[in-house]
Amino acid sequence: MCGIVGYLGPQEPKNIIIDGLKKLEYRGYDSAGIAVIHDGKTKRVRAEGKLKNLEDKIVSEHFNGHLGIGHTRWATHGAPVERNAHPHQVGEISIVHNGIIENYLEIKEELLKKGAEIKSDTDSELVAHLIWEDIQKTHNLLQSVKNTLNKIVGAFSILVMWEKSPNELIAFKDGPPLIVGIGEKEFFVVSDVQAAIKHTKKFVYLNDREIVHINNGSVQFLSQKGDVLKKEIVTVDWSADQVEKMGYKHFMLKEIYEQPRAVAQAIAPYIDTDTHSVLMKNIGYDTAEMYKKIDRVFFIACGTSYYAAMVGKYLIEQIAKIPVETDIASEFRYRKPILPENTLVITISQSGETADTLAAIRLAKEHGAKTLSITNVAHSTIDREAMGHMYMNTGVEVGVASTKAFTSTLSLLNILAVQIAKARGGISPVSEKEIVKALLAVPSQMETVLSYDKYFNEAASKLGEFKGFLYLGRGVSFPIALEGALKLKELAYMHAEGYAAGEMKHGPLALIDEKMAIVVVAPSDDLIDKTISNLQEAKARGGKIISIGTGENAALKSMSEFYLSLPAALWTTNPLVAVVPLQLMSYHLADHLGYDVDQPRNLAKSVTVE
Ligand code: M6R
Repeated sequence: MCGIVGYLGPQEPKNIIIDGLKKLEYRGYDSAGIAVIHDGKTKRVRAEGKLKNLEDKIVSEHFNGHLGIGHTRWATHGAPVERNAHPHQVGEISIVHNGIIENYLEIKEELLKKGAEIKSDTDSELVAHLIWEDIQKTHNLLQSVKNTLNKIVGAFSILVMWEKSPNELIAFKDGPPLIVGIGEKEFFVVSDVQAAIKHTKKFVYLNDREIVHINNGSVQFLSQKGDVLKKEIVTVDWSADQVEKMGYKHFMLKEIYEQPRAVAQAIAPYIDTDTHSVLMKNIGYDTAEMYKKIDRVFFIACGTSYYAAMVGKYLIEQIAKIPVETDIASEFRYRKPILPENTLVITISQSGETADTLAAIRLAKEHGAKTLSITNVAHSTIDREAMGHMYMNTGVEVGVASTKAFTSTLSLLNILAVQIAKARGGISPVSEKEIVKALLAVPSQMETVLSYDKYFNEAASKLGEFKGFLYLGRGVSFPIALEGALKLKELAYMHAEGYAAGEMKHGPLALIDEKMAIVVVAPSDDLIDKTISNLQEAKARGGKIISIGTGENAALKSMSEFYLSLPAALWTTNPLVAVVPLQLMSYHLADHLGYDVDQPRNLAKSVTVE
């Protein structure tokens, strides 16, 4: 993970780099650093902990010059201490690195044999050693970068600057994202467009094993062999406002409250609101033709995106009536999956950069499967590699805990299920209309749920006294229970398990006593009576029940310590409204406990390493 910012241009780099790193802090936040070529010498400052510590350290520091690099770290090799923070400097070379150098032990051994003085425990510093060793022979930064690229194996994106050459910045990558922002006589090299969107809207996305050479006011893109590449300049129309909190205490809270708009935006391109029908938009291929041919769907994703995929399985199997498998990307990529002909592999990834999901889509392509990606970030690596594309269209999601991307994805999965069913002649216009109307009602239903926030806050204030949590649900509510448990774990650091309510009697009932909270997602659907029976079993053993049900469900209410009411929705859209109280309860509990909601410990938003 980690966030990288490089700047070369007429302005002083300090504020541009720090400002950019603030936008990337979601990628890692255990240490940070900056280096600038200042009066012909490298001036480097690093600090352990959050970016704020670095800011405090350099607040009255002056950095002359026009070239600088900065980094916010999520530790892979070496503890999160200042000595391991980036930039790493060896001689006149400074680098920042995102990723993992897999052959670092070999490189380290070689360097130690030659008497190199290695100051950190990182794999990254070794790259600076290799370039510094090489440049003393070549006196040419580009050549030394090319030579070094031949020696390193792994997943990396790296920025390099050389004290002797203050108008030259080189970047190269094989794995984690790297994007070049092109401004008026100035250049930005960043891990995410958010870090430079304030300065430019023009970006070039690098592919693996490409090198960017910015030198004396111009930029060249090169292959590893040195061939000049013609790259497309993409205009990104995000506004800088999207990455501000806009008065909310946390990005996560803002993003929870943005969900009604996010869902409306996600579905808008696919719905004819006059006829209440779903449009068969061309999304990279002839949608109807392709959906007619497929006979199996595989969903691949990680974390919250995986739970969205699980909802997708229920929707597609029941609406389009074709078999669906779901896989966690890190399992799929190594389990030697069998992908029969006419399989559609759908990857879901908010960031579009998750390493395991990316590997999974590459594997699917090798097997000849058709691929479709659902991402939030257009032009991200997964989006670029997929044959077909759907977009969550939620705007930037900054909070590490995913919220609006999840619900936007659920709305797209409703659309997708209808599209597949429609292409295969398997859905009646009445059912299609019913699903579309249900989707169109979601934004206002979400608004209603959000207006109950004070009750969720009140419920949350009681949750801290429990020793553990079981989140239960059946059918489409089961993945929502899993998502609720994940939100509680990642934000409030409390142990929570998501379970299919019917599985309780096969083991988890043994855990139940009065210190165990049972959070149940139980909207009024076909399975509600069965869920209530499962709750009776838990209640009889002393479990305290917090339930989320539709309207005034007297049976559910009478057995619950807290009953949280949802507006009535269709079974296909229940998950979209039911997840909101779970998001808010975890948010409030974490906030009451004084935890950093937007940057939970040990996590990063975009997981670009295995
Ligand atoms: O960017 P992606 O959707 O591929 O990310 C997948 C997971 O890393 C992500 O959903 C993670 O589980 C979130 N922190 C959950 O809130």
